[in-house]
Amino acid sequence: MPRPTLITHPFDVVVFGGRGDLAKRKLLPALFQLDRDNRLSEDGRIIGASRGNLDDNAFRALVEQACHDFLPEKAFDTKTWERFSRRLSFVGMDATQHDDYGALKKVFEGREEVPRVFYLATAPDLFGPITRSLGEAGLITPETRLVLEKPLGHDLESSHEINAEVGQVVAEHQIYRIDHYLGKETVQNLMVLRFANSLFEPLWNRTYIDHVQVTVAETVGVSGRWSYYNGAGALRDMIQNHLLQLLCLTAMEPPISLEANAIRDEKVKVLKSLVRIAPNEVAHLTVRGQYRAGAIDGKAVPGYLEEQDAKGGSDTETYVAIKAHIDNWRWAGVPFYLRTGKRLPQRCSEIVVQFRSPPHFIYPDTAGPFPPNRLIMRIQPDEGIRFQMLNKQPGPGELNLRQTALDLSFADTFGTVIPDAYERLLLDVIRGRPTLFMRVDEVEAAWQWTDTILNAWQQQNVPVKHYTAGAWGPSAAIALIERDGRTWHEED
Ligand code: BG6
Repeated sequence: MPRPTLITHPFDVVVFGGRGDLAKRKLLPALFQLDRDNRLSEDGRIIGASRGNLDDNAFRALVEQACHDFLPEKAFDTKTWERFSRRLSFVGMDATQHDDYGALKKVFEGREEVPRVFYLATAPDLFGPITRSLGEAGLITPETRLVLEKPLGHDLESSHEINAEVGQVVAEHQIYRIDHYLGKETVQNLMVLRFANSLFEPLWNRTYIDHVQVTVAETVGVSGRWSYYNGAGALRDMIQNHLLQLLCLTAMEPPISLEANAIRDEKVKVLKSLVRIAPNEVAHLTVRGQYRAGAIDGKAVPGYLEEQDAKGGSDTETYVAIKAHIDNWRWAGVPFYLRTGKRLPQRCSEIVVQFRSPPHFIYPDTAGPFPPNRLIMRIQPDEGIRFQMLNKQPGPGELNLRQTALDLSFADTFGTVIPDAYERLLLDVIRGRPTLFMRVDEVEAAWQWTDTILNAWQQQNVPVKHYTAGAWGPSAAIALIERDGRTWHEED
């Protein structure tokens, strides 16, 4: 039986940067998947907008190729493609040229009431100018949603400028700021785990939790994106958004409802409670790293400075570890260790909550070791939840306690393939649900905190420490946690 259509109303989605990397890799394939799963209404159009003289058919060919390149082979079928390709058209325009918006305007003739989405998959310095031109061309209707891709600026000031410029034309409730981690099923499940079960919440505080680790490890390097990445670095590219969002969902207070602003209010409180890292502490509480040539999965890979398009020397960090603190009633004194890096030995995003050891231990040392309980929320891959605890090794001889795990794999339990985050996010934009998108004060509060680290690094001239591709970052990152008597979680 086909699934019920989720979007029942007509819609128009315009993708600025429609021939770009993000559109080809993620957005257009995700829309195809939604169509294949019967999620989209029949009267829904997708319009690529970008420089170039493509006609509709050439654009369709480009999208078909992208679907072949970036979807699993089994995901593509010609029947869906025939339907999907009819939705596609292309407007050749230079988004910086005001006069070019006339061509776009024509596309909407007779569809003034239809909800429309402008997805700005472009460089952030175009967000303001494009929005202004859309406004001047009369293209922003009450039913318009504007999607802004990260990076939303380079620091607090530039982010504020973009937000202010866009905010002059479009109301806040119409702006959908993407952090694609929020579209991941396992990230949404963090709230369900905490707030739909009664087991964890009473323990979710400084009395019972020793510390929290948030890891987003990647095996990929920055090949192909060197210019962007070199101006950003891991703190801006990953910590300011994805890792801080994971931290917020782990640390926030229970919201009063699922309503978008109720959740965002709680996340902003966490961001505002993050303790600023002072310049004289930055060398102690943070580590910057950069990969050198090494090997991943037995294959040699180049160092950051030898990546395709690399231009000379660079001090940009491809790895960051931070010991963060949240100064509030629930978390005072509980460290949150964050780490992310490229060219690490395995792709793995997870949140580890380590509980305190029992206050009075009755078992003899000979029965140990006694690692404390850990709850591991695996964001990707092998999505699932694992709870590590001690159990008695069966047998009549000497008493032995063994660390064992309750292990829940989402794939096995639900028997389903986990959809790409962009499918969920695009669906939510089209149907006007803002919960999984970031409000302006959230983005700015995140920048406020990361700016203090960026400034401190600059002031103190904190250099990158090198690590070999395929290793778990520089040794200083291991020392960061081990000098507190703790260890990074690594699966056996
Ligand atoms: C992006 C970053 O936001 O997230 C990339 O710009 C990074 O550098 C990517 O590789 C990671 O996303 P995912 O979904 O593959 O974990």
